[in-house]
Amino acid sequence: MNNIDTKWKPASWREKPAKHLPKYKDVKALDIATKQLSNFPPLVFAGEARNLEKQLSDVANGQAFLLQGGDCAESFSDFHPNNIRDSFKVILQMAVVLTFGASCPVVKVGRMAGQFAKPRSQDTEIVNDVELESYKGDIINGIKFDKESRNPDPNRLIQAYNQSASTLNLLRAFAQGGFANLKQIHQWNLSYIKEGQSKSRFQQIAKRIDECLVFMEACGINDQNVPQMNETDFFTSHEALLLPYEEAMTRIDSTSGKWYDVSAHMLWIGDRTRQLDGAHVEFARGIGNPIGIKVGPSTDVEELIKIIDVINPNNKAGRITLICRMGADNISTKLPTIVANIKKEGKKVVWACDPMHGNTIKAKTGYKTRPLKNIISEIEKFFNIHRSEGTYPGGIHLEMTGQDVTECLGGLQEIQESDLKSRYHTYCDPRLNASQALELAFLLSDFLKDEKFSSKKSSNL
Ligand code: PEP
Ligand code: CO
Repeated sequence: MNNIDTKWKPASWREKPAKHLPKYKDVKALDIATKQLSNFPPLVFAGEARNLEKQLSDVANGQAFLLQGGDCAESFSDFHPNNIRDSFKVILQMAVVLTFGASCPVVKVGRMAGQFAKPRSQDTEIVNDVELESYKGDIINGIKFDKESRNPDPNRLIQAYNQSASTLNLLRAFAQGGFANLKQIHQWNLSYIKEGQSKSRFQQIAKRIDECLVFMEACGINDQNVPQMNETDFFTSHEALLLPYEEAMTRIDSTSGKWYDVSAHMLWIGDRTRQLDGAHVEFARGIGNPIGIKVGPSTDVEELIKIIDVINPNNKAGRITLICRMGADNISTKLPTIVANIKKEGKKVVWACDPMHGNTIKAKTGYKTRPLKNIISEIEKFFNIHRSEGTYPGGIHLEMTGQDVTECLGGLQEIQESDLKSRYHTYCDPRLNASQALELAFLLSDFLKDEKFSSKKSSNL
């Protein structure tokens, strides 16, 4: 099975039915691009992916919390250091709120440095009677509605790789070059978040952390003698949708002799491509990276258990994260049975909540949006279900940005339908802005505190 199956090869998925892959007209150009990619340096190292798996095993065991977030779709045109910096800042802020508020280590994973390919519900789009291929993410085709842009172009694979490499380079610098030092906590505030919009609550935490740091310094503990205080671990992830790209980025790790997809630390299988006999599951089972599986309302729990067996035959904690995206209306009827069955089978998994993808609605103005109140309602139900089932709600998966966008409704800024048009910049699904993301972090830290309190209480009974 995984990594022991000597018959598995990065190209094994080609024998299986594959959904949501583009049909490239220029097959020769695709071949040239993927050959080039397979000679490019790895973006991540297998040892880093193993480190993430270890940290995720702590999450599976209820000892840490997974915070995964970033764009729905990265784009070539929004590629700018300030965008990368601001998304990183919000994730750091959220992590501090969770770590400090709930006394819980946070595993930070960005939907960044490679999150380009999108599955679409409709293969084509019709505008003014003209029918063209849908936009499928910048790694596949262009968003502009004309024939040439919408044609899948293999050269985009190379551009996506290059952009991922520079994004990751900056993220590594931010994570390890001193920016993530808690002494810099005041620098992580985003200027456009106003007082009252979680800002003052964050400033209070920052002040208390400052006091702790001064106290620790007085005790002789500082970033000089404890260098870890100067840096943080930050991992990358994306949906492993575009298999020709992922195949070209899959290499044997010389330390372990196992296959790893070196395009990101963690890869996930989307809700539309998680068929047991499909190409995406076949690809995922052979790579050593931690694997996410999106679990939507159409999930058949028997099939899910078989998929877990195929991808994680040794039932290793940290290898599988189930990213549940039921929607606030469906979660109470769908999730409890799934959780109960996976628990009964003794599967070691991380349970994460994606409260975004089941809560997308169309506003009267035509914009795709997500009401924050529905996002909050799904998260709250997710925590309650795990409490009833005696399982651990281990993580959150968000589409968010550090930019001051108006894409999701509500929150402390009270974004209304009529506001959506003012700063609606997403290339695909609506994202939380920094203020909404921070608001969620405070809510999550309260839920996690309750969770810890109730599990402590029950273990003392
Ligand atoms: C996504 O995460 O952007 C996505 C398409 O999710 P899902 O597969 O859950 O629909
Ligand atoms: Co999305």
